[in-house]
Amino acid sequence: MDIRDRSGLGKVLDGGFDAVIHFAGRKAVGESVTDPLGYWDTNVAGSLVLLQEMSRTGITTLVFSSSCTVYGNTAEAPFAEDLPTAPINPYGETKLAVEQMLAALAAAQPHWRLASLRYFNPVGAHPSGEIGEDPHGIPDNLMPYITQVAVGRRPQLQVFGNDYDTPDGTGVRDYIHVVDLARGHVAALAYLAEHPGHSIHNLGTGRGYSVLEVIGAFERASGRRIPYAMAPRREGDAAAAWADTRRAQAALGWKAKRDINAMCRDAWNWQRRNPNGFGNEPW
Ligand code: UFG
Repeated sequence: MDIRDRSGLGKVLDGGFDAVIHFAGRKAVGESVTDPLGYWDTNVAGSLVLLQEMSRTGITTLVFSSSCTVYGNTAEAPFAEDLPTAPINPYGETKLAVEQMLAALAAAQPHWRLASLRYFNPVGAHPSGEIGEDPHGIPDNLMPYITQVAVGRRPQLQVFGNDYDTPDGTGVRDYIHVVDLARGHVAALAYLAEHPGHSIHNLGTGRGYSVLEVIGAFERASGRRIPYAMAPRREGDAAAAWADTRRAQAALGWKAKRDINAMCRDAWNWQRRNPNGFGNEPW
């Protein structure tokens, strides 16, 4: 169902729950620039409907999927949670708007238990190979693009920029395995059981990898060559972004355990078993 469907969502919540983990949102930066109202509608108005229906049904614990994109491009990595926020696109603005909604709600009604988790770059798949990432159309993100090249759906990867001020000139990001990310949500729920109010936590590994390092790790994990070509920088991209993980470690007792090799192995395992993804669209 659609998160903006108040009566449908209300009926679900009437079933009785202890907490909500709120993943429902749109997340393509470029699309948010061309369709800002769509992003404000789903991400912000949708979250408002959810919070109102939670309030009506007496559910006051929520874990929200926020993003490191709220830090913008001005600060230098590593990014700590108390940095000033400076989103540079409508997607980031909508994530920050929901964080602000949660902060204001917790200030007004201190019994709410709300956590905003700022994801860095989630990649990989469940190790079973049964749950993976199947973007619609041309993938916006690096890892699904690589896996689609590896499986033969796309001829080659474009590397967006090799003149950044990074060790090999390509962009550096903090990739985090989706299973570690999921564990972070469980840790956040345990934290909220002890801590009312609104809190913010980075979910990353604290380590950055360049695009070329990711390609190398993927080639080793999969045994496939990934043809690539250098291309101009992509507008709005930062040179380097990785998390300061100290708060998440201290407060949540959580730390990412899976390394880049596991991320590549599991992403490839899923794509190899599901060359057409979930089969929801022809390609
Ligand atoms: N990249 C390429 N070729 C591609 C795709 C990506 O070289 O085909 C590079 C990018 O330039 C960047 C790195 O790979 O250096 C990672 O790019 P992604 O698109 O995978 O991830 P981003 O860091 O751009 O974006 C992620 C999330 C967003 C979020 C953003 C915050 O996907 O939702 O982090 O910085 F907003």
